[in-house]
Amino acid sequence: MENNLEQDFEIKLLGISGSPRKGNSLFLLEQAMEAAVKQYPKRVKTEICTFGQTPFAPCDACGAHKRLNGECRIKDGFQDLRDKWLDADAIIYSVPVYHMGIPGQVKCFIDRLGNSLGYYFSDFMPGDPVFHIPRLLKAIGSITQGSHIFAGQEHAQAFLNTHAMIMRCIPVPGDLWESYIGAGGWTEVSPKVSALKTLAEEGKTDAQIAVRSAQSLGKRVVEMAMIIKSGLKANNALLKEQASYLPLLATIEKKGSLKHS
Ligand SMILES: Cc1cc2nc3c(=O)[nH]c(=O)nc-3n(C[C@H](O)[C@H](O)[C@H](O)COP(=O)(O)O)c2cc1C
Repeated sequence: MENNLEQDFEIKLLGISGSPRKGNSLFLLEQAMEAAVKQYPKRVKTEICTFGQTPFAPCDACGAHKRLNGECRIKDGFQDLRDKWLDADAIIYSVPVYHMGIPGQVKCFIDRLGNSLGYYFSDFMPGDPVFHIPRLLKAIGSITQGSHIFAGQEHAQAFLNTHAMIMRCIPVPGDLWESYIGAGGWTEVSPKVSALKTLAEEGKTDAQIAVRSAQSLGKRVVEMAMIIKSGLKANNALLKEQASYLPLLATIEKKGSLKHS
């Protein structure tokens, strides 16, 4: 069995660009995803979603998801992105810094994701449904960039890493020294969508660091996803005694998804 672990699993890598523009967030996200594919061309399947101009409604605390088996009552783009999120083994968020944090649109998605998924896996848990997010163990990386230096990049990364932990996933940074808890950069005050790309091509050190840290983060996120899937398979017999691992182990056994069918 051990000899087959490496070939067993394709890694589904979802990139989420949290900007309404096709700009610097998307540029760094593509750097991360392309680096992962270049390193592991036969293992990685990628998809990129961008937030675009379509708004995600905020959570209105209706509580309906408790009786809807974890479904969010508000029907908009949320369900589509939620399904892609559930389907992925590895996720990279790339967001612009807004007011030293993440953009409101991304927070709207994350609020609804965290709240509704608390009742999404109730079928696997013994007893009456209670709020519980089982071990989802997705590898999650965070890329953030803004116009200014020291202007919220790390705050936003820390928030996204915290989100990863709440979702019982694993936050994964790139390599030191360029990446401490995520990847990031600044556009040297330029508002242009192509600012970071241009600066990197001009040889500007900070932009090149942003690109390199995104690239190492992309590779490390995929590697962590590989380690998790192979480790789950190797320890299946022990872990299936714990209800919190059952949804994920079911996907390993059936090579399926966490999504409701
Ligand atoms: C509402 C808003 C708030 C912003 N707040 C910050 C900030 O706190 N720090 C910063 O460095 N840049 C801030 N910016 C600038 C963007 O982060 C910057 O333009 C970024 O490169 C945009 O990324 P994009 O090209 O992916 O859209 C803000 C921009 C907007 C629209």
